[in-house]
Amino acid sequence: MRLQDQSLFPPQTVRLKDGRAAVLRFLAVADAAGLGEFYAAVPREDFRFYSPYPLTRENAAEIAADALGPFRVTLVLDLGNGRIGGYAWYRWAGETAERSGFGICLSRDCQGAGAGRLLMDRLFEIARLIGPPVMGLTVQLANARGVELYTKLGFTIVREQMRQPQPHYDLDAEPEYYMERRVR
Ligand SMILES: CC(C)(COP(=O)(O)OP(=O)(O)OC[C@H]1O[C@@H](n2cnc3c(N)ncnc32)[C@H](O)[C@@H]1OP(=O)(O)O)[C@@H](O)C(=O)NCCC(=O)NCCS
Repeated sequence: MRLQDQSLFPPQTVRLKDGRAAVLRFLAVADAAGLGEFYAAVPREDFRFYSPYPLTRENAAEIAADALGPFRVTLVLDLGNGRIGGYAWYRWAGETAERSGFGICLSRDCQGAGAGRLLMDRLFEIARLIGPPVMGLTVQLANARGVELYTKLGFTIVREQMRQPQPHYDLDAEPEYYMERRVR
């Protein structure tokens, strides 16, 4: 996301359900190490549901380096002292794309504390102005919490499909929903 667009959405201080304060802000190029730490702590059980690519420090550095790419918006949950407690993003193919793709992952200690909803609500505010009018996502049926959160936030199921097995990531085939939501 371009810097001039980022300036429309300044960092926001939020409070998690357990009382912790955190800041919602855009991913920055300087977050390479923090994002790498966050990736390194994602357990296998969560990688099953959030596996866009291997969650390595190298891939974290690449994602951070692309923080100002024009066709992506990435928000982090900043816990202070360089700690990233989670992130959520949407990205799209180019100026004329009709849909973006959405993803989210929280560290274990930030799950169940309302952070998913906070990150997504902020992303929706941004998506009213930036990017395509429709957001899409896939979520495994076994990820009941994910399905519940997305449904509560206005996504509807478009179809059920099979995620293909991904032997190189040691992931089995799994039934999943493709869901969508209009963002403006
Ligand atoms: C899935 C994820 C994004 C959810 O975010 P979260 O902030 O932890 O979500 P919450 O625990 O606050 O739960 C969201 C809602 O689902 C409901 N919920 C919680 N656990 C549930 C369960 N086991 N079954 C059904 N619903 C559940 C809650 O009622 C909550 O609703 P509320 O906000 O009205 O209270 C987060 O847990 C995560 O990052 N998990 C690991 C990676 C992942 O699965 N990413 C998504 C890939 S599609």
